[in-house]
Parts: sequence; C-alpha cells; structure tokens
Amino acid sequence: MRVLQIASEAVPFAKTGGLADVAGALPVALQQLGCQTTLVLPAYRSVFGKGLPIEQTDLRFPVAVGTRSLEATVFTCRLPGDDGQIFLIGNDHCFDRDSLYGTPDDYADNAERFIFFSRAALELAARQPEPFDIIHCHDWQTGLVPAYQKLLYSSWPTIGQARTVLTIHNMAYQGQFWHWDMLLTGFHWKYFNWQQMEFYGQLNMLKAGIVFADKLTTVSPTYAREIQMAPGGNGLEGVLAGRSRDLVGIVNGIDTNTWNPHADAHIPRHYSADDVDDGKYTARVALAARLGHAAPDPRPLVAFVGRLAEQKGVGLILDLINRMAGSGLAHFVILGTGDPASEQALRTVAASYPDTVDVVIGFDETLAHLIQAAADILLMPSQYEPCGLAQLYAFRYGTIPVVRATGGLADTVVDTNDQTLADGTASGFVFEAFESAALEEAVRRAVAARGDQDRWRELVRRVMEQDWSWQASARRYREVYEQTLAAPSVAVADVE
Ligand code: ADP
Ligand code: GLC
Repeated sequence: MRVLQIASEAVPFAKTGGLADVAGALPVALQQLGCQTTLVLPAYRSVFGKGLPIEQTDLRFPVAVGTRSLEATVFTCRLPGDDGQIFLIGNDHCFDRDSLYGTPDDYADNAERFIFFSRAALELAARQPEPFDIIHCHDWQTGLVPAYQKLLYSSWPTIGQARTVLTIHNMAYQGQFWHWDMLLTGFHWKYFNWQQMEFYGQLNMLKAGIVFADKLTTVSPTYAREIQMAPGGNGLEGVLAGRSRDLVGIVNGIDTNTWNPHADAHIPRHYSADDVDDGKYTARVALAARLGHAAPDPRPLVAFVGRLAEQKGVGLILDLINRMAGSGLAHFVILGTGDPASEQALRTVAASYPDTVDVVIGFDETLAHLIQAAADILLMPSQYEPCGLAQLYAFRYGTIPVVRATGGLADTVVDTNDQTLADGTASGFVFEAFESAALEEAVRRAVAARGDQDRWRELVRRVMEQDWSWQASARRYREVYEQTLAAPSVAVADVE
C-alpha cells in the first residue's frame, strides 16, 4: 500500500505541538508495517537551521493560487533509520518567515499559504512515478486536500484514484477565512454552501475536509464522541455527527526512541524502572542548576509542560499555585509559551514564590525532557484534550499524571484508588469538573500518595512498563486505510 501523508508540521523539521510528534512518527511506524509512505511538509525557514540533511531537487513547478502562480521548489531529506520518503515544499513568499503560523497572531495570508501548500503537495504527488492508494492529511492546514483531490485532480496521474483520510487533531482550529478567499482556492463558488465549504459566511477549511474526505479519524475514541456534540464540535458537531459512520478515534502512539529515559540525550543520567529514583534525582540536580537553585528542593515536584492556551487549563494551574504554594507541600515548575496574558500571570506568580515556583517561558525541547525526567507529578488539567501526548511521555519517565477526564486523557489515564491499585490498572489521578478545587483535590491526593514510598514506587514501575509505542496505533491506521480502500469513494453531493 502506498500512503501519502501531508502535514503542516512534523518532527524533527518543525513543531508547535503534538501534531508534529504524530506526523513525524506515524509515517515511520507505517513504513515498518510495510506501507510505503511519503511525507510532504512545508519548507519553513526554520527547517534549514537544524543540521538536517536536506537537499534541493531539480523539481519545480507552478501552483495556481487564485489569479497568481506561485512556484513550488522541492527539497528531500533522508533521515537515519527511516526508509520512507520525505519532501519539503518551498516557496519564499509563503514559508521564509519567522514562524510557522504567526508571531503570535496568525499571519493574515494563512489561507493563501496553506492553499498553496495543499495544492503543491498534490501536484508533487502527481509527479511521482507510482500511484498512491491513500492520501492522509491532518488538520485545517491540509483540510482542502480531499476537496482538491475529488474536484480538481481526479483525473491526475498517481493521485486521481486514491482514497482520502483526514485526521482531526483539534476541533478548535478550523482555518476560517473571509469568503473572498474562495477565489484563491480555484473551486467553483457553488461549493461555498452550508453543507460543504461555508460556515457562517466564511470559508472553513476543516469543514471542507470533513465533508470531502473518504474517512475521518481523530486522536482518541472519547474525543471522537465529544466532537459529535456541543461544545466539543465547535459548531461542526452536526457535520461530524452526519459522518459518524466514517469517523474513528485512534489514540496516538509515542516515539519511544525520542522519549526514552534509557537513551535520552537530553537528560544527565539514563534510567529504567529499576533505578528510577537515582535517575530522577540526577535529573533534579540538573534541573535545579538550570533554574538557578543551589540544590534541588526535596519536596514533590509538580510540573506542567505545554502550550499556554485556554485548552490546557492554564487558569486552573494559576489558581492551584496560588492555593497551594503557601502550603509548602510541593514545588512547581512550569514550561510553556503561548497566550501573552498567561505568560505574564505565570511570571508574576513565580516572582511571588521564588523558592516554590519556577516558570520558564519559551519552547525548549531539552528542558521538556529534563522536566519529564525530574518531576514526580505532571499536570494536565485540560478543558478538552483530543489525545494529549505529555501524559504518555510522563508514563515512560515514571512521572504520574494528574489529568481531567476529557478526550484522550480519559482514554489513557486510570485514576488511583484501592480497586485500581489492587487490579494493577492505576496510572494517575483523574478529576472531572473543570474547576480549581477539583484540580487541587486531585493534586493533594497525588502528593499524599507520593508520601507512601512503597505504593508510589509500585505505581511508577507500572506506568513505566506500559506500552504506548506507535505499533498498535499504526496498525489501527492501516486497518482504516484497508477499509477505506475496500469501500467506494464518498460521492460529491450536488447541493442546490
Ligand atoms: P498539543 O498538541 O495540544 O500542544 P500534546 O500533549 O499532544 O499537546 O503535545 C504537546 C507536545 O509539545 C509535547 O511533545 C510537549 O512536550 C511539547 N511542548 C509543548 N510546549 C512545549 C514547550 N514550551 N517546550 C518544549 N516542548 C513543548
Ligand atoms: C492536538 C491536540 C492534542 C493531540 C495532538 C496530536 O494538538 O491538542 O491533544 O495530542 O494534537 O494528535
């Protein structure tokens, strides 16, 4: 089976969040299952500064974006241990910029940039020698790909017969643009209607993907249910419910080479379940030094690593710190970047409790790994969470997550109580209500459990032994591809 993956970010090239982890690892896992995969990414300016063996090819071609023609240049890269194919599509006007999507506000021309990318990815695929069976795209940035494949490229070589799969990583980001951007897409205006590409007067790229793709997946079974209802569907719940039979939830895997305390280049001492105490202590010494402390704080270390967005429950974390920092029960460390008001509020709270709260604003891969290794408890009080990867990384590093029961967090973390301890399924601390008091109660339970050395050690050992590698998830994707290939392509409705 030949699979074309199209994504707007993937490790190790470009990353703003979990999409990059998935788009980087899934193709490799599929390749190992015998699917021939080709991954297409934008050649952002930043991809060239990472020491990756990126090479320019001779291939260049024009791509129509409205009345303009933008030239696509094509780069390739061979990564060690990955025999899949990787292409990066360059165009200075679109991608030679400081950041991926904006700084921090979205770039005003994001519609044009991702229309260009989506079309260029398909036109590149059409220039490959062998046909693709599956075209798999991710999130709003590539949401128009299924519509292009069906409406404009159905007779093109190597892609015309393929089936399309769209994976939704987050319903809150839909790629909504003013209606005149329809002119940039090259689609007939008749598709700008409430059942296809229009949403409250705007062009909605994710909606187009949901309507035109042959198959839809999202990143956990619970999120697959949540998005078919309000508020999870963010207005598209009806459209998603209408495609219920074609929507599947598959929990993400994790890259067990990158996130592996036994071989992690970012941590000072490698460890496994047998010497986790020593490994964590050494990580804490390094973390304390990195944060400017003379010695590590012996209190339980409670951490957060993530985007500072409303989704992640940053408000609850601020409340939690204000409620608990004075108690002396724990030390907090926060690493994140995002919403400027949250960044400021976190800086302020850190300044109020210099011995108890550390806040680092920024995106720092090494620090993310070091914190996962050093911490006892990881906070994920998300308002919603399609899958969540940080809790799965935490498991591997023997860090116990405290999560709200939503989306993928509900599917991956089992609350610790007498029964789950006895049957061996306990893996974290789970709370229901999106309220500071509920988070605080769960964190206090976790901190208290940390005090019972033997029980805690047992819990840590169990979570470290769990297997969240990509193998099982990639097998589910392959099944979905097989089902999609066995069924007829979804017909384009003629909406009057
Ligand atoms: P989301 O994709 O919604 O941001 P996930 O939990 O799926 O959430 O994935 C987040 C990924 O981004 C993880 O790999 C996490 O370690 C990483 N990450 C988030 N914020 C930062 C940061 N400030 N520095 C380093 N890594 C970060
Ligand atoms: C999104 C979601 C996150 C998920 C990630 C990868 O960014 O917010 O929950 O883990 O995509 O699928």
